Amino acid sequence: MIYLKSEEEIELLRISNQLVAKTLAELAKHVAPGISTLELDRIANEFIRDHGAEPSFLGYNGYPNSICTSVNEQIVHGIPSDKVFLKEGDIISIDCGAYINGFHGDSAYTFCVGEVDPQIVTLLRTTKESLYKGIEQAREGHRIGDIGYAVQSYCEDRGYSVVREMIGHGLGREMHEAPEVPNYGRKGNGVMLKSGMVICIEPMINMGTRHIVFERDGWTTRTLDRKPAAHFEHAIAIRQGEADILSSFEYIEQVLGDKAI
Ligand code: MF3
Ligand code: CO
Repeated sequence: MIYLKSEEEIELLRISNQLVAKTLAELAKHVAPGISTLELDRIANEFIRDHGAEPSFLGYNGYPNSICTSVNEQIVHGIPSDKVFLKEGDIISIDCGAYINGFHGDSAYTFCVGEVDPQIVTLLRTTKESLYKGIEQAREGHRIGDIGYAVQSYCEDRGYSVVREMIGHGLGREMHEAPEVPNYGRKGNGVMLKSGMVICIEPMINMGTRHIVFERDGWTTRTLDRKPAAHFEHAIAIRQGEADILSSFEYIEQVLGDKAI
């Protein structure tokens, strides 16, 4: 069942997603060689609570932390650890959720740690661009498959592969609502998009094979060939027929300055 949101509910979702955006920007200040992923988790947890919200991920299906930190060949759902320290040349997807006023925010960004191989930077840039290609298709009268087709064709045309096992989703009072939002698909297929729908689009794009491995910790996913993967996520509402991005990368990119990808 797809819950259509009122204008008021969309404004509450904007508050939740803007808090996630600011949390990711706070983390952007700390992403550097030497920091542990658990320290990033602690910073996020504190920032979210200081703003009167709760971390959406903590306790979700037993998830142990407030953010997901997925380094290099890890795709999504990496668990923060006091044994994982970032090093020069790494990339890290940080996925974050915050719950306030009865609604969830959910957004993710892949950061560079210091200087990163230009080929990997291109993977990140292409993945982020593909997210905006998907968002362009998210308008009344289009279908879910139009979003997936836009993301998939943009990435595959550039030699990358699209993860199938994890997908985007509806967002609202629950972190995962209908409809499912795959990053692959056919034009004109799937659920028709309508004003009031709020969805997360989150391409997970691999440098090498699309195939993945589920690690034995029960959460972390990584590429089968251990080549790098990138992940960016925005929450969007369809309002007055068009996509309205509720999350934001602007705060992050202000922090990153001329180092933004
Ligand atoms: N933010 C993820 C998503 O986009 C969900 C994280 S799973 C959790 O679907 F268990 F860590 F919360
Ligand atoms: Co999500």
